[in-house]
This record gives sequence, structure tokens and C-alpha cells, in this order.
Amino acid sequence: MDVQQALVERRSVRGFLAKPVPVDTLHALFEAAQRTPSWCNIQPWRVWVTSGETTQRLTGAMLAACDANPKGESQIPFPPSYPEPYGTHRRECGKALFSAMGIAREDIEARKAAFRANYRAFGAPHVAMIAYDPHFGVYGALDVGCYLQSLMLTAQELGLATCPQAALASYPAAARSVLPIPESLTILCGIAIGYEDPKVAANACRTTRAPLSDNVQFV
Ligand SMILES: Cc1cc2nc3c(=O)[nH]c(=O)nc-3n(C[C@H](O)[C@H](O)[C@H](O)COP(=O)(O)O)c2cc1C
Repeated sequence: MDVQQALVERRSVRGFLAKPVPVDTLHALFEAAQRTPSWCNIQPWRVWVTSGETTQRLTGAMLAACDANPKGESQIPFPPSYPEPYGTHRRECGKALFSAMGIAREDIEARKAAFRANYRAFGAPHVAMIAYDPHFGVYGALDVGCYLQSLMLTAQELGLATCPQAALASYPAAARSVLPIPESLTILCGIAIGYEDPKVAANACRTTRAPLSDNVQFV
């Protein structure tokens, strides 16, 4: 698979088979992502990859934290609003997901349940929790963004499915109750990793992209 094919075929998967990823494949994935470029090559990503019972304990702690405080305790504030054109993109993305799941706009309970599924990592057998030293600010976070894309494209090549999840940064204390993530680091996101369950309705969701000229000007 070439990079462009991986870019076209990758999408967020929100329903996984219980089947674990072989250890060698997991290692190949994270080994490849180590090649990610970064500011002065500081390589600021710090990553905890769970399997088996550890995934269960992590998602159990996350679900309990979500039920106790649905608002979340993320160290990274969510955007306060979405002015245009971002509001339209956000609405269309939500519409695509909820219509794939057969959830009506006014069905608040079903929407809440769909959001809650974030905290069980959509049933993925593996979760990578990704943190960095906030000392490096926006540029360090950019590096981690590049790392996330390295992971997602390599996973695609390896036949794995992923979902990047800011939601998994919502409960840092719950994450730390299971994983030895130092308090000095900021948890930026998690990523669910495994094999797609094609029977899960959410996986029929397809998002679109704006025309190139909305984002890129050739001058
Ligand atoms: C940094 C980041 C955080 C995200 N957080 C979540 C999340 O918490 N839950 C979720 O279901 N999807 C999450 N997504 C997935 C986006 O919703 C998705 O990438 C976007 O709608 C485009 O769809 P696609 O990935 O299928 O192309 C996140 C994506 C990124 C890049």
C-alpha cells in the first residue's frame, strides 16, 4: 500500500473485533511511527500501549469517571464554539455518524450512549495513550499530531483499524490510576487500535472533505 492509498482508505473506526493484534505487529506499528519528524528532533511523544486485561482496566476506569462526571476533566480545553465554516463541518460529521448509527437528531439518550462508547475505546483490544511535556507548547503538540498520523497510516498499511480519541484525554486521573503516566506530562489523546468489526453500524460512517480551494491557495 502506498501513502496516498493509505490516506484515502483510512477512516475512524468505532467498533472493533475482540481479536488482539499480534505483539510483533504492534511493535512494527510503533517502531515505524518512531520515524516521525519533530521540532529539533525532540521526539516528545510518550506513549502507553495497552493490551488484554490492561485495556479492560483502563476503559473500566474511564467509563466510571465518565459516569461520575460526564463533563470531563481534560487538561486541554475543548473549543468553546465553532464559528463558520467549522460549525458546518462539525455538524456534517456528527450527522454522518448518527445517520450511520440510525440515531435520530432528537434522541438525546442514544447520542449520549454513542458518546459514552468513546470511553470503552469502542471495544478496541488496544489503546495507546499519548502524552507530552507541556513545556514544548504548541510545537510539541504539533509533533504529537504528526506522530498520530504516522500511527494511523502505518496501521492502515498493516491492516489495522484506528480511532484517534481526544475523549480519552478527558479523565487523566482515571488513566493514571491504571498507567504510570507522570503528572508532569499532559495527556493529549488516546488512539483505539485493533481490527474493524464490519457489523458495527457506526463503521458505515463516511466523512467528506471541503474542496481544496477552501483550504489551500496556490499563489
Ligand atoms: C486529534 C483528534 C481527536 C479526535 N477525537 C475523537 C474522539 O474523541 N472521538 C471520536 O469518535 N472521534 C474522534 N476523532 C475522529 C474525528 O471525528 C474524525 O477524524 C473526523 O470526523 C474525520 O473522519 P475520518 O477520521 O473517518 O476521516 C478525533 C480525530 C482527531 C484527529
